[in-house]
Amino acid sequence: MKLTIIGTGYVGLVTGACFAEVGHSVICVDNDAAKVQLLKSGGIPIYEPGLEELVERNVRAGRLSFTQSTAEGVEKSDIIFIAVPTPPLPDGSVDLSFIEKVAREIAAAMTSYKIVVDKSTVPVKTGEKVGETIRRYCKARVDFDVVSNPEFLREGFAVEDLMNPDRVVVGVRSQRPVAAMKEVYAPFNAPIIVTDINSAELIKHASNSFLALKISYINAISIICEATGANVQEVANGMGMDARIGRRFLDASLGFGGSCFPKDLSAFIKIAEQVGYDFRLLKEVQNINAEQMRRFVKKITDTLWVLKDKRIGVLGLAFKQNTDDVRMSPAIELCKLLLKEGAVLRVHDPKAMEKARAVLPDVTYVDDMNEVAEGCDALVIATEWECFKKLDLERARKALTHPIMFDGRNLFDPAEMEQLGFIYKSIGR
Ligand code: UDX
Repeated sequence: MKLTIIGTGYVGLVTGACFAEVGHSVICVDNDAAKVQLLKSGGIPIYEPGLEELVERNVRAGRLSFTQSTAEGVEKSDIIFIAVPTPPLPDGSVDLSFIEKVAREIAAAMTSYKIVVDKSTVPVKTGEKVGETIRRYCKARVDFDVVSNPEFLREGFAVEDLMNPDRVVVGVRSQRPVAAMKEVYAPFNAPIIVTDINSAELIKHASNSFLALKISYINAISIICEATGANVQEVANGMGMDARIGRRFLDASLGFGGSCFPKDLSAFIKIAEQVGYDFRLLKEVQNINAEQMRRFVKKITDTLWVLKDKRIGVLGLAFKQNTDDVRMSPAIELCKLLLKEGAVLRVHDPKAMEKARAVLPDVTYVDDMNEVAEGCDALVIATEWECFKKLDLERARKALTHPIMFDGRNLFDPAEMEQLGFIYKSIGR
């Protein structure tokens, strides 16, 4: 099938590459000239495992191409996916100006029936607005359908998630675009659920808010574990074996971050408010998340006392493992809080150091994770990178002025750490 994706961010680029991989002919559109140039010359603007090879293979096979022209993308394809950013506004609601602009551009370029699919995360009822906008700005007065097809990929696992989706949600107003949407997704062998547009839009916000709630729930449990000498990982394992609960997203941490959960929670609270419901449950999810960071910093100050001029090593800057994304990263927030207290930081991340430099200029970036502890008063784990589990602990213990480690991701075993001579403080254990 001929498909166009407008927006080549995390969602758009991975979606385009995966659609091409299963045999579709895909045009990726972006208004950022530098980005399109980079992609055309074989470069990738983001780090995502497996993406570079996927893009390279499909460009070579002639199934994936890049352009700056929305008109070209609209003209050459029957299905147009919108995957542009929907950033938060200061009041927590969603900035839909990119969606609106793209809807107008698509409308202006349409000369025959098109299916316009929204993949960006948007508030319920956005599909209706997109439909109205296209109708208003389409001079050719051609027929079209608007479809809501939210994306559930996780950064760092985007290719894997997209190639093996748990489900595909297709929100429609009429049956006309359903067969084509099913054809797009047939190679992915996933259950396809067809709903009305509003329900599809709600499924996305409801799912992300629920996952954030799950993390805040286990983080709240971690506080009780700390107060009672229980172990939050054992509690999570026991809970997770109940098929109704499930073990995933029950890892206690210094808090969740990223470009989705914090933004989607605020947006969903705002959407609820606009329809007359005070979503207090989700406000508490936010509170617990903020509290978790405060408690982690307190753990550090309770142990190290005054932080001014203390040297602290921080492992992890990305908001989670397998990504170079530092947007709303708890690790970055932690670094800023420690800097505010006057601490001197040595930091490392396997992939996110380049992006971190822009937001965290006043720290020392260390290329080798095993050199971070050198001369530090304590070592902090802030991101759940698998490779940190292979840290040379003996070397770290010797390099630290005092063998103190604060683990915000529970990567090590407390008993083993104690045996190795560390003062080891983690979350809920
Ligand atoms: C999320 C959703 O999972 C995805 O379906 C949606 O499309 C976009 O938002 P993403 O933001 O990429 O994906 O990352 P995710 O893996 O969900 O992690 C979000 C944050 O929660 C990270 O900071 C992560 O470290 C934290 N987290 C996750 C925990 O603290 N504990 C957990 O058990 C899981």
